[in-house]
Formats: sequence, C-alpha cells, structure tokens
Amino acid sequence: MNYIVVDSYKELSRKAAQIIASVVTLKPDCVLGLATGSSPVGTYDRLTEMYENGELDFSRVTSVNLDEYVGLDGTNDQSYRYFMNKNLFDRVNIDKNRTFVPNGLAADPAAEGEAYDNHIKELGGIDIQLLGIGLDGHIGFNEPDSFFTKETHLVKLHESTIEANSRFFASRDEVPTTAITMGMSSIMQARRVLLIANGAKKKEIMEKAFFGPITPEVPASILQMHPDLTVIYCEND
Ligand code: F6R
Repeated sequence: MNYIVVDSYKELSRKAAQIIASVVTLKPDCVLGLATGSSPVGTYDRLTEMYENGELDFSRVTSVNLDEYVGLDGTNDQSYRYFMNKNLFDRVNIDKNRTFVPNGLAADPAAEGEAYDNHIKELGGIDIQLLGIGLDGHIGFNEPDSFFTKETHLVKLHESTIEANSRFFASRDEVPTTAITMGMSSIMQARRVLLIANGAKKKEIMEKAFFGPITPEVPASILQMHPDLTVIYCEND
C-alpha cells in the first residue's frame, strides 16, 4: 500500500488527478471506475483543467460508477448520474454512451447487479478504481456488516450514511434509504485502486481501515489486501 499524507485538499486533488491522468495517457481506451460524493470533486475539476489545457483526451475512455440511489433517475439533481454529468462528463470529451452508472430505477435490482458485474467483465475489468470512504468505513455503499458482499447489489443505507448524505438534500426525509452498489469483487479486481479522503473527522476511520484488522465491520479494510492500492489523505477539509 502506498499511503500518502498531504497538507491540503488542493494537493490531494492534484495528486489524484495526476494518477488517473497517467492511466488515461498510458492506456487511452482504459476503463475508469469512478466515485461521487464531495471527496472527488476537486479531482474532477483538475482532470477537467487538464482536458481544457489539451493535456488529456477522454475520447476513448469508458467509465463505470460505483453506485446509484434507488428511485432516482438520471435527471434528478441528487442522482449520482446527474452528479457525474455535472462534475465531469459534461466538461470533458468522454463519449457519454460509454459512461455507466447502476440503474437506480431497475425493476429487478438483483438482475441489474448481475448485469452490471457482467458488463464490467466484458469491458475487460477496471483499470483504476477511484474511491472515497464513509465515516463508517463504507466504500461504494458497501456498509459495515458481518460479511463482505461480492456482487453488485441492493443495499439498505445505514443511518450514519443517510445522516452524512442529508447535507446534499433539502431535508433528511428526502435522502433515499436504499442504493445499488458495486460489490467487493469488481472493486478488488480493479487493476489499481486509489482511495482519497480528507478532513479530521475521517482520521479515526482511516486508521481503522488501513492500519487495523481486516474485517467486514470496516468494509474499506479489505483494500489492505489489494496489490496496487494508493491512499491519499489530507487531515484538513
Ligand atoms: C460515492 C460513494 C461513497 C462515498 C463516501 C464518502 O460514490 O461510493 O462511498 O465515497 O460516502 O463520501 P464523501 O466523499 O462525500 O465524504
């Protein structure tokens, strides 16, 4: 594991974007595994700047996102599809037909999960998976449990996650309580994993996840087993 501590969110975003950009440059038709939430916003800004400066070309890139709320369609401004369009896809020259986010409106979430995993396999797997981490140690929406779930699946969000995400909604009642998330297999099979986190409030979970025992009660701890893991942490917000 390559555990990097930086002083500012700006530096974190710059480093994360450089790592992703190097993957795109070395393999222009790569598959990027992407995340939403507040952590990657600066990384997406930086990647956009690189594209605008002519340093980066997304025209042959494919992306697969980690998760989506159940019940929200892509035009809902709280959906993760909307977030990705706004923060990255609409700002660079990626072909939107090759950007994939789990379908939060799928009538059969189990079938959607299986199809999503099969699709990732058909794409040849993920070249680099970008992750954030929840205060309870979740990655994607793989919440603490007594076991790790391998497949992309439907998940009931924990109270702490609903609470944390309510900052993006008009009220707590509007936060969806279920989501579809990539499971641990697709995440762990990614050729590289890059986890970014910032803020003093995440210090404790970062210690547990990367320096504590590997346990499904801290889902991110499984990443300690990944052969090519980079973690970038900044204690400042
Ligand atoms: C988002 C995702 C989540 C977030 C996590 C941290 O696609 O999968 O696991 O990465 O909840 O969120 P932020 O970055 O908002 O602290």
